[in-house]
Amino acid sequence: MWRLALSSSRSPQSLIVSESDAGAKNLGKPVEDEAVDKNIFKDCSKIAFYRRQKQQLSKKSTYRALLDSVTAGKESTRFQIINEAAKVPLLAEVYGIEGNIFRLKINEETPLKPRYEVPDVLTSKPSTVRLISCSGDTGSLVLANGKGDLKCHITANPFKIDLVSEEDVVMSINSLGQLYFEQLQIPPKQRATKENEEDTSDDTTQENQEELGLWEEKFRNFVDVKDNGPASIGLDFSLHGFEHVYGIPQHAESHQLKNTSDGDAYRLYNLDVYGYKIHDKMGIYGSVPYLLAHKLGRTLGIFWLNASETLVEINTEPAVKYALTQTGPVAAKQKVRSQTDVHWMSESGIIDVFLLTGPTPSDVFKQYSYLTGTQAMPPLFSLGYHQCRWNYEDEHDVKAVDAGFDEHDIPYDVMWLDIEHTEGKRYFTWDKKRFPNPKRMQELLRSKKRKLVVISDPHIKIDPDYLVYAKAKEQGFFVRNHEGGDFEGVCWPGLSSYLDFTSPKVRQWYSSLFAFSVYQGSTDILYIWNDMNEPSVFRGPELTMQKNAIHHGNWEHRELHNIYGFYQQMATAEGLIQRSKGKERPFVLTRSFFAGSQKYGAVWTGDNTAEWSYLKISIPMLLTLSVTGISFCGADVGGFIGNPEAELLVRWYQAGAYQPFFRGHATKDTKRREPWLFGEEHTQLIQEAIRERYTLLPYWYSLFYSAHVASQPVMRPLWVEFPDELETFGVEDEYMLGSALLVHPVTEPKATVVDVFLPGSNEVWYDSKTFSHWKGACTVKIPVALDTIPVFQRGGSVVPIKTTIGRSTGCMTDSPYGLWVALSTKGSAVGEFYLDDGHSFQYLHQKQFLHRKFSFASGVLTNSCADKRGHYPSKCVVEQILVLGLKKHPSSVTSHSPDGKAQPVAFTYCAKTSTLNLEKFSLNIGADWKVQIQ
Ligand code: GLC
Repeated sequence: MWRLALSSSRSPQSLIVSESDAGAKNLGKPVEDEAVDKNIFKDCSKIAFYRRQKQQLSKKSTYRALLDSVTAGKESTRFQIINEAAKVPLLAEVYGIEGNIFRLKINEETPLKPRYEVPDVLTSKPSTVRLISCSGDTGSLVLANGKGDLKCHITANPFKIDLVSEEDVVMSINSLGQLYFEQLQIPPKQRATKENEEDTSDDTTQENQEELGLWEEKFRNFVDVKDNGPASIGLDFSLHGFEHVYGIPQHAESHQLKNTSDGDAYRLYNLDVYGYKIHDKMGIYGSVPYLLAHKLGRTLGIFWLNASETLVEINTEPAVKYALTQTGPVAAKQKVRSQTDVHWMSESGIIDVFLLTGPTPSDVFKQYSYLTGTQAMPPLFSLGYHQCRWNYEDEHDVKAVDAGFDEHDIPYDVMWLDIEHTEGKRYFTWDKKRFPNPKRMQELLRSKKRKLVVISDPHIKIDPDYLVYAKAKEQGFFVRNHEGGDFEGVCWPGLSSYLDFTSPKVRQWYSSLFAFSVYQGSTDILYIWNDMNEPSVFRGPELTMQKNAIHHGNWEHRELHNIYGFYQQMATAEGLIQRSKGKERPFVLTRSFFAGSQKYGAVWTGDNTAEWSYLKISIPMLLTLSVTGISFCGADVGGFIGNPEAELLVRWYQAGAYQPFFRGHATKDTKRREPWLFGEEHTQLIQEAIRERYTLLPYWYSLFYSAHVASQPVMRPLWVEFPDELETFGVEDEYMLGSALLVHPVTEPKATVVDVFLPGSNEVWYDSKTFSHWKGACTVKIPVALDTIPVFQRGGSVVPIKTTIGRSTGCMTDSPYGLWVALSTKGSAVGEFYLDDGHSFQYLHQKQFLHRKFSFASGVLTNSCADKRGHYPSKCVVEQILVLGLKKHPSSVTSHSPDGKAQPVAFTYCAKTSTLNLEKFSLNIGADWKVQIQ
C-alpha cells in the first residue's frame, strides 16, 4: 500500500487528510499565490534509471551487430546485437513503413517475461514496405526502401545505423554509443534461494544497490518496490545539419527545445503540477514522446513509442563556419556542420522508434498521423467560447451567468460545471440542493442552442452506496495495489479507487455509463471533461500513483503511466458516441494525454496562473502540442490561479480568441471574473475579442477539417509555413492560423507597440483592421492600444467569415458569409471553405459536406467545388466580399451566377487603402459562381 507523503508538503493538492475523513469538504483546497513546491517532484538526480544509465554509459562498453544473423522476413529485417559486457543478445528489427517511415524495434531476444509494448496508440498495423538489402561491405548492411532514395546503413561494430537520403546522411542512431538495455533478471532473493543461499555475486555493495535503485527506489517517504527489477532502455540519435528541434510536450517551455545540461533533461512523466513553474523541463500533465527536427530542405520526426517515464536530453552544436584543423602555419579552414544529439531514456518497455523522414513539415505531419491518427473533427459548438469556473454554484448561478452573456451581447456556446456539481464528488451524480433539476437547466441552455460540459474524473469515491463504485468494485474494475487489493488513494472525494482504463472491459463499461438512461439528468447537450487523469493521487509519490500498482494483464503502472489519461478520454469519447447510437461527434476535454490523444478530443494546459508570463508561454506550449498532432488545444483564459487585473484579462481573451480551444476558467476562491465584471470599457473589449472569434468561425472550422483529413495543424509555428526561411525557425511570440492569418498576441502589460515579424520576401501582409500592407521579410513596429489584436492576412489568401454574429454558433447556422480576399504580389488569392451539419458523422458516412474552393486571378473570383464527393445543401449566401490590395479603381463589377445570369454588383473602392468592398450581394455559398472585376 501507499505510504504517506511528508505532511510538511506545501503543495495545495497534497493537503493531508486523514484516511477516515474520506468525505472531507475542504479537501485539496488550493492555497493561492503559492509557488509549486518542486521538492514534491523528482529531478533527474532522484531518478534511479537516469543515474544507472549515466553510470553505465560512462564505461563505454559498445554494442556489436551480428550481421551474419540477418534474416529478411516478410515485414522486417532482423538481426542480433550484442554487448561485450552483458553478452545477452538483443534482437533488432528494421521495418520500412508506407510513406517513407522506418521503424526500429529492439528487444531482448528471449526476455525472462514479456516486456510491455504500447498497445492502442497506432491506429492500425502500419503497412510495411519490403526493404531491399543492398550489398554493404562485410561489416555493414544497407537496407533501401523500394524507390532506393532512402537507406538504412547499418554498421556492425560498433553498432550504428545511418539514415541516408539521396546520399546525404541525415540521422545516425547510436553513433554516440548510448544504446542501453537492461535485461530482466530473476530477483536477487529468488536467485539466492535457487543458488542455495549462495552469494549472488553482485558486484554492487548495499550502498551502491540503493544508489542504483535496482529492486527498490526511495523518494521522500515513498519506496518503490520493483518486482521486475531494472528494465531501463535508452538510445541516441544524431541529427546532422539540424539546429532546431521541437515537440515532446508537455513542458511549460519554449517551442524550440533547449539544450539540456547534466541532470536537467526534458521529463515525460504525467503529473498534476498545480501552478507549474514556467521555463522548466519537469513533466506536467501529458506526454507525447515525439520530436521534430527542422533545417533548410528537410524536416524529420522521431516518435519514441514508450509509455513509461521518459527523459530526453538535447545537445545542439551550432554550425561552426571556420574551424582550425591544424595549428601552425598550415592552419586550414573548414566548415563544420551543425548537429543535434537527442538521447532518449525510458524506465521500461522496449525500444520501438519510428523515424519520419519528411522531407517537408507537411509530410512529417502526415507520416505521424498515419501512425497515430488525425485530429478528431470537433462539433462546431466546441470552437465557440466556453465559460467555466470552479465552480458555478447552482442552477440559479448558471442561469444568471448565461443571461449575463445575452445582456452584454457576448456570444458563448458552452457552460461548464466543475466537481462541485456532483453529490460529494461522485461523478455521474448531481448535488441535489444546488442542481435539483439538471434537465431543466439544460433545456434553458438548449433554448439558446448552447451546451453544457460537466467533469468526470477517473478516481471513484470509496462508498459502497455509490453505484458506480459498487459496480466497479464488484467487477474488479479498479487498478490494484502491489498487494493485490484495490488501489486506494486520496483525491477530491477523499479516499478513492481508480478505474483501470487500460482494460478494454473497463472502458466498455465506463462508456456505457454515459447512456442517457444510465446517466440520470444528462441530455444530448451534455459533454464531458476528464481531469486529474495523470492520474492525480494527492498523497502518492509525486502526487501520482505508485509505479508498482497493477493493471489489466498484470502490467505494472510504471509501464503505462503516461497512457492512463489517454485511455480515459478514449472511453469517454466512445461513450458519447454510443449514447447517440453512433450518430453524434463527441466533445471531451482531457488534462492528461499521450501520442494519439488527438483522436478523442481536446487538451488544455492545466493549472496556469493569472500572470503575464503565463499568457506569453501559452503560445509556445500550444504550438508544441499543435506540431505533435494535438490541434485542439488551449490554455485557461485569464489564468486559472489568482486574480488577473483587467488589462491582463482583456489581453488573455484577445489571445485566446485566436487559440484553438477557447475557455475562460478560474479556480475556487478567486474573484468572479465573468466578462462584464471589469467595467464597461473592458466588457466591450472582451466582447469584441469573442466576437472576432465568432466572425472567423468558418475559417476555424475549415482549418479543423484540414487537420482532420490532411493532418495539417490548425495553429502553426512560422517555420511550418516558411520552412525555407531561417529567421522563422526560432519565432514563438507569433504564429500562423492555417496558412492565411498571422497572429501576434500582445502579452506585455501597458504595451503601446509590438514588433511583428512578417516573413517571406515574396509575401505581402495586410493588417486585418487597418488594411495597411507590408512586404514580407521585415519586422514592423505596430502601434497597439488596448483594443488592438495584431492579426495580419497573408497576400494570396481567401478567408471565409460570418458577417452576422449570433448568441452561439448554433444561432449562426443560417447567417450570411463574407470573404476576405487578400491579393498576393501577383494579384491572385486562393482559399478553402468547409461546411457540414456541425455535429454528426454524416459528413463521413453519407458524405454530407460542402468543400469549396475560392480563387482569385486576373480580376475574377471563382467559387468552385473542392471535393465532388461531398453534398450538403446550405441556404447560406455570401453577402460581402472584401478585396485587399487591389491597385486600381474598378470600372465595373459583375457577378455570374450558376444559371449564367450576369448582374452588376454595387461596390466601394478606397484608393488610400487599395480595398474594394462588395456589398448587397447574395450568392449561395455552395454554388459555382464568379465575380468579375473590371
Ligand atoms: C484541477 C483542474 C482544474 C479544475 C480543478 C477542480 O485543478 O486542472 O481545471 O478546476 O481540478 O476540478
